[in-house]
Amino acid sequence: MKTESFRGRDFITLLEWSKEEVETILDVALDLKRRFALGEPHDHLLRGKTLFMIFYNQSLRTRNSFEAGMTQLGGHAHFLDPGKIYTPALPGREVAYSTERVSDVARVLSRMGHGIAIRCYGDPVDWVYGGANELIRNFAYWADIPVLNMECDKYHPFQALADILTVKEKFGTFKGTRFVMSWAYSPSVHKPRAVPQSAIIAATMMGCDTVLAHPPEMELDPEVLEVCRKHAAMNGSSFTVTHDFEEAARGAHVLYPKAWAPVQMFKPPVGVDDPKLAQEVFDRYKSWKATREYMALADKNAIYMHCLPADRGWEVEDEVIDNTDPPTGWRSVVYDQAENRLHVQKAVMALVMR
Ligand code: CP
Repeated sequence: MKTESFRGRDFITLLEWSKEEVETILDVALDLKRRFALGEPHDHLLRGKTLFMIFYNQSLRTRNSFEAGMTQLGGHAHFLDPGKIYTPALPGREVAYSTERVSDVARVLSRMGHGIAIRCYGDPVDWVYGGANELIRNFAYWADIPVLNMECDKYHPFQALADILTVKEKFGTFKGTRFVMSWAYSPSVHKPRAVPQSAIIAATMMGCDTVLAHPPEMELDPEVLEVCRKHAAMNGSSFTVTHDFEEAARGAHVLYPKAWAPVQMFKPPVGVDDPKLAQEVFDRYKSWKATREYMALADKNAIYMHCLPADRGWEVEDEVIDNTDPPTGWRSVVYDQAENRLHVQKAVMALVMR
């Protein structure tokens, strides 16, 4: 277990953390989860410390798990609505007395607290792929305190930590576990790539046999795919990409079907900035839905995963997502996944903000 060099670090993508460091985070998360279950206080870990949370987008799980997590660690989290502060903006995107340059916001908050967490993707950066990640990295450049990525347009690293902690709990091992990240249909194209990209980064990093399934138009960032291939080679595991929804599910231990935006949605050069075309593309694939028949293709002990919120009736049938406690066979673990957001975030905050 690695124990040094956590304090003061930013948490923006798992790509900046080693496998050994991620294993330490999971270990700390399990320890904090055990203490939470026992009602054992651990509020000395971040007593008197403050996390500033800036949400450009909606949230249920992320906001409440960070806020509750800070309380349980003895600190406090401030919820900051960008429309109610002066919206943090990069040079060139400033509006007089409505925005405030990120470099000023980051340096002011660094004088008052111990961490800055940011969620930003999609509309706030006009679907310029990487624009939100750039904003968060600019915060990290100027801040003297850790900057945490609560989901940008590229990565959702805390979701990925919760995902792999859930896999570890359910199967006890990553080796030989067939982890299928699949696209699924939703009527809304306004969904970033952050969850699937971080999920496959984490699954390949930990050594799962990882499969990415999606229609041709829903391809992910080629740089992320390249990293996944390298992870698989290092671990002696596999990483494959397919356009066949059902074939991918056969024999799977983990099925994680969810929607993400097609390339047409993004501004050039990544896409063509055409939301109408993006919607037409989406609507061609309504059959990509997690049904009982789909789950039956998987291993008999398979788990259904989703980061939530799920688009019930489109991405997944109620009979699948609600099948959380069956006597035997495959099951949904979505609420375990959601709970694990709390424990992994507490682990990272305790390690980097202490
Ligand atoms: N999974 C996730 O990040 O949920 P929220 O959008 O509710 O935060």
